[in-house]
Amino acid sequence: MSVTIPATWVSNRIRLEETILVGCGLDRLDYGTTCHVSASHRDSSMPATLDRLAGPKGHWLRGNLSQFVAGRLGFLEENFQKYGDAFLIRLGPKRILVVSHPDLVEEVLVTKNRCFIKHFALRRTKLTLGNGLLTSEGDFWRRQRKLAQPAFHREKIAQHAAMMVAYTERMLSSWRDGQARDAQDDMMQLTLEIVAKALFDAEVQGESARASVAMNTVMAAFTARVGKMIHVPEWIPTPVNLRLQRAVRQLDEIVFRMISDRRRTGEDPGDLLSMLLNAQDEDGGGMTDRQLRDEVMTLFMAGHETTANTLAWIWYLLAGHPEVEAKLHEELDRVLGGRSPTMDDLPNLPYTDQVVTETLRLYSTVWLIGREAVEACTIGGHAVPVGWTVYMSQWIVHRDPRWFDDPLSFRPERWSDGLMKRIPRYAYFPFGGGPRLCIGNNFALMETALLLATIAQRFRLQLAPDANVVPLPTMTLRPEFGVRVVLQGRSS
Ligand code: HEM
Repeated sequence: MSVTIPATWVSNRIRLEETILVGCGLDRLDYGTTCHVSASHRDSSMPATLDRLAGPKGHWLRGNLSQFVAGRLGFLEENFQKYGDAFLIRLGPKRILVVSHPDLVEEVLVTKNRCFIKHFALRRTKLTLGNGLLTSEGDFWRRQRKLAQPAFHREKIAQHAAMMVAYTERMLSSWRDGQARDAQDDMMQLTLEIVAKALFDAEVQGESARASVAMNTVMAAFTARVGKMIHVPEWIPTPVNLRLQRAVRQLDEIVFRMISDRRRTGEDPGDLLSMLLNAQDEDGGGMTDRQLRDEVMTLFMAGHETTANTLAWIWYLLAGHPEVEAKLHEELDRVLGGRSPTMDDLPNLPYTDQVVTETLRLYSTVWLIGREAVEACTIGGHAVPVGWTVYMSQWIVHRDPRWFDDPLSFRPERWSDGLMKRIPRYAYFPFGGGPRLCIGNNFALMETALLLATIAQRFRLQLAPDANVVPLPTMTLRPEFGVRVVLQGRSS
């Protein structure tokens, strides 16, 4: 059977392809000035080099979506084993090149970053994140990043160190020896309070219940969308979207109120919000209330779950590795001798730092970065057409035996003798890289180390008999059923 398709239709290739495939019950299409539909032809619209790349077989319409959704990490691992550093998958209509060599990651994130924008899943979060740093692009993003960057300089974030420790000690004052807790829940609550205080000097303890319920609803709505073949736009009133809209309205109410209070009183408590409010570019222009709201919401979202997950994974790993835990305790007891840690202590706590680094290697809370090509370019010699997506997974690259000996073992000491300098630059990229590098990386590293040092001095967190710790890769990599622990006071 042969069907002629005008070449001008080719820009709508994927939609067209699906229509014809469904209509004619075929499994492959060909394109050219005229296109012939044939059950046996290969897809000649692919550039030659990509065409040579292999990938797992998929369903004619869904592609590999079902396999991907059934087990994202296992799916990527299995295909990396089978096909190596670059392979092709399809998630519904989305064509995706998966690259797992550090040099290819560097090409996408750094050397050829101008060919790409953030991938499609992030663009589906506009209702919540608006045009904030995580989702905006081009000149708008560049201006926002420049305005926000000074708020994240080392000396600025150092101002939050004492508050982070004080909030942790406040949490610990309610912890008791022998108590059963969910370390994931506790870390979420604590990092939410910390980011709110750092962002808008707000004691959200009172308001935190409402803010965290709203935040959880937003996260759940994000999660519910991941891996869906048909994307329902956020404005369509499905039950999930209605819950999302209500939660965003509640968060908006809190955030806009804070912005207007601050503008009205002119108060400057030196928090991130006032830094963003006072930020001006060379033309003296600042941010509108809407831009401020989008940035604050982005920092709120990006800045608490990521750190909470990292800490939750740390407690899980320490509980399973008493020898690492003992070494950590030895360092903390020797350097701090029971007092509260400060920012100045961090350079004297190298093992604590290695525990954080190693946890971010094995359980990188951002487990996948995606980019979409807006300019045709080549990655590792493979031509990537406009509209295609490239995936890079920390879960795969960080566990590659070419860069890490015995990669599945939790061995913080592997970082003690300059490993970071010996491996390729992008063999380890928990915070991404290039111009879109995480703006909060120093904030996150400081916070994680301080909270770890404060808590580990006072308590051991042992896995509860009913603990079932399973990594769930959604927007972030988090423990699906939390991390159930039983507390053991260190003095006992
Ligand atoms: C362990 C904790 C964290 C991890 C692992 C992490 C990871 C990442 C990664 C991988 C990206 C790049 C995403 C991409 O290229 O598509 C990113 C971007 C970003 N992160 Fe983080 N992050 C963490 C904590 C934070 C914190 C604490 C904040 C703010 C307080 C923050 C704010 C942001 C923002 C605003 C962006 C977008 C930056 C831009 O595109 O200009 N993150 N993060």
